[in-house]
Amino acid sequence: MIRFLTAGESHGKSLTTIVDGFPSNLKISEGYVNQQLKRRQFGYGRGLRMKIETDKAEILSGVRFGKTLGSPISMLIKNSDWENWKTLMSVGPLNQKVQKISIPRPGHADLVGVSKYNFNDIRNSIERSSARETAARVAAGSIARKLLEEFGVSIGSYVESIGGIYQDNNFSEKLFSNTISSNFSAQSISDKADKSSVRLLDPLQEEKIIRKIKSAKKNGDTLGGTFITVATGVPVGLGSFMNYDTKLDAEIAHSIMSINAVKAVEIGEGFLLAEKLGSKSHDEITLKKDFIGRKTNRAGGIEGGISTGLPIIVRAAMKPIATLMSPIESVDLSTMKKVDARRERSDFVAVPACAVIAESMLAWSIAKFFLQKFGGDSLEELKDNYSSYNKKLFGRIKHNFKS
Ligand SMILES: Cc1cc2nc3c(=O)[nH]c(=O)nc-3n(C[C@H](O)[C@H](O)[C@H](O)COP(=O)(O)O)c2cc1C
Repeated sequence: MIRFLTAGESHGKSLTTIVDGFPSNLKISEGYVNQQLKRRQFGYGRGLRMKIETDKAEILSGVRFGKTLGSPISMLIKNSDWENWKTLMSVGPLNQKVQKISIPRPGHADLVGVSKYNFNDIRNSIERSSARETAARVAAGSIARKLLEEFGVSIGSYVESIGGIYQDNNFSEKLFSNTISSNFSAQSISDKADKSSVRLLDPLQEEKIIRKIKSAKKNGDTLGGTFITVATGVPVGLGSFMNYDTKLDAEIAHSIMSINAVKAVEIGEGFLLAEKLGSKSHDEITLKKDFIGRKTNRAGGIEGGISTGLPIIVRAAMKPIATLMSPIESVDLSTMKKVDARRERSDFVAVPACAVIAESMLAWSIAKFFLQKFGGDSLEELKDNYSSYNKKLFGRIKHNFKS
């Protein structure tokens, strides 16, 4: 069973993560993790903070001579901004007064945080609820991604819409209609999306979206959007229908929904399926020369909580950023008077980054179920188990994932 825990406040000294349960002998480097961290920082619409930080993970334990030891892997990501926050975020008691924050931002964790934890300063709530924490998640997820790569499982993502402006959805249609080539790797989607400042696959809509972001920013407003995360090369049989917590679709929904500001998750055609006839919803099973195939992939690669072997397709919606430069209504908790919500340094749009974080969470969920199924203390043992399962399966049912 793999698990990870993150620690760290947004403006604290650093973020840390401990990743546990990975087999020994998996090659991993700081460079590999840092490449993913860099991708998380990117995207048009980010605020000043991302200009201050250059996220780099230092591996402190669990790796020797470039390979995992099977022991817990701990990683540290320093917050460069800490230098400016040493006093305000002092770990020890402070002999001077600091200005407390008493005006909550609607849509953020400010009001619920101070209510629940008996704080009299919203700063205590902001620090951990901030999406800065997701940098540590991306570091953890990159270990999962590296493991999956050993088995030809690849993860990618792209932004589908920002502020209601959608890119041409040719590619999404190709995914659902199962007309992409069988040796297609999800990584190639990210390679393409990473070239766009808003991580679109369709460059024609990029200008339109950037104009929309500029206009929102000018008006002191923010935007959200939707994105698609895909995993290819996932073997048939991850997850199970035996219990609520063994279903792969439930695991993935949890992991993507746990990302800050994500408010909806769909697997496959999701909501659209609710509007269609059954005959137009399910993926017909075909037979060609003893090989079993599927005409479509509307189920998004999961049936009965189990991976079908087709690409796993997850669509998610991120709400607009909560911090507004033209604030909406709030209440000052120190005076109990109606006021404008507090402004603070903030992103305007973070959908491109959110999609990268979702890649890490998807990698994590798939690796978790992969290791549950195939097990093994070393990478070699895991590979043996994997190939023995595939051989046995192929002897009974020959899957062909081409349409
Ligand atoms: C990559 C990323 C960056 C974010 N940046 C900001 C930000 O700069 N300002 C802000 O108010 N919210 C930001 N958010 C959203 C908040 O973290 C989120 O709304 C808050 O934690 C409350 O959680 P909830 O929206 O899930 O209820 C960001 C989210 C993500 C995923």
